[in-house]
Amino acid sequence: MRPFNISIVGATGVVGAELTRLLEVSPIPVNRLWLLASRNSAGRQVKFRDEICFVEPLDDIGDLETDIAFLCAGSAVSLEWAPRFAAQGALVIDNSNAFRMDPDVPLVVPQVNPSALSDRPRPGIVANPNCTTIQLVRAVRPLVTALDVHQIILATYQAASGAGRMGIDELRNGTRAALDGSSGPPAARFPVPLPFNVIPQVGDIDSEGGTLEERKLAQETRKILAMPDLRLTSSCVRVPVENGHSEAVYIEFEKPVRLEQVHQLLAQEAGVRLYADGIRKGYPTPRFLANPEDVHVGRVRVNPENPRGLWLWVVADNLQVGAALNALLIAQLAIANRVIEK
Ligand SMILES: NC(=O)c1ccc[n+]([C@@H]2O[C@H](COP(=O)([O-])OP(=O)(O)OC[C@H]3O[C@@H](n4cnc5c(N)ncnc54)[C@H](OP(=O)(O)O)[C@@H]3O)[C@@H](O)[C@H]2O)c1
Repeated sequence: MRPFNISIVGATGVVGAELTRLLEVSPIPVNRLWLLASRNSAGRQVKFRDEICFVEPLDDIGDLETDIAFLCAGSAVSLEWAPRFAAQGALVIDNSNAFRMDPDVPLVVPQVNPSALSDRPRPGIVANPNCTTIQLVRAVRPLVTALDVHQIILATYQAASGAGRMGIDELRNGTRAALDGSSGPPAARFPVPLPFNVIPQVGDIDSEGGTLEERKLAQETRKILAMPDLRLTSSCVRVPVENGHSEAVYIEFEKPVRLEQVHQLLAQEAGVRLYADGIRKGYPTPRFLANPEDVHVGRVRVNPENPRGLWLWVVADNLQVGAALNALLIAQLAIANRVIEK
């Protein structure tokens, strides 16, 4: 395999930093690595393999001859820079919401719909789904493939890190201040202070009372699973957890469901860790999550009042499974499929 030139835009953010760390230990051979961010971060040093890399301002770069550009700096940056990198010949892997529902842009979770990346997409851009979507589709894939689904209803419990570095800082500083009895910083990344609180809103609320996060979860799941008519509704909630999203997922099937079959399907799914009698004890929680590359599923039970209904508790590291690792696995898939050369 030839070594690749790689750019990470948003390298100083929580997703970009996680991606840099995962790339360092990945099998992808790197010829040159450009770490890019805003002007505020210019000159920051990051150790990568045996070298020190300097963070450079994105606005100052010209043609970088990048093979793979990872964009982790929000939708506005992606809308401007994804087409520019693609025009320079790079395969762009975009972590933002900017292109996910574009019919020409594949929305890829390598464990779920790898065939979506069998060829180079026409715009040269591949989209990484939203964090809540990735863990959901990885957990339900074996079930919705084997059994007919009537509908999916879920509530999410999303960590502060989903709102970036500022989200984590706001939770930490606000928690310290609340424990000290002071008022602390005003809420900035969240609608109201998150420490010791639960906020039933992730993103702006629209005219129908839903949020963009809830719409993304439904639309992206339908696109990835190639189930355009899937009934899916959710309520997305922010909780004072630093990292790791949880989801209480209720799947109603067309016919009664057998718990043994569900256990078997989940236990066989690569990258899913099932917590069930005789397999693994207890249930997963976001703070104590070993194997952060996996999706953790527990509390699996049939609804005693409806034999067609099944509950799952799904937990994953949103920075790894929900963003950086998925992006890196897309790159590895693109390299294996020779999509980079085309
Ligand atoms: N956090 C998650 O769990 C998660 C999950 C899935 C997807 N995502 C997506 O991943 C992306 C990054 O999120 P994050 O959580 O890592 O955010 P973050 O911690 O706030 O980091 C944002 C990064 O973008 C850079 N940036 C901002 N404006 C820029 C500009 N005009 N030019 C160049 N760089 C700029 C920042 O650089 P400075 O440090 O120099 O300001 C920083 O490196 C977003 O699109 C987000 O929606 C996040």
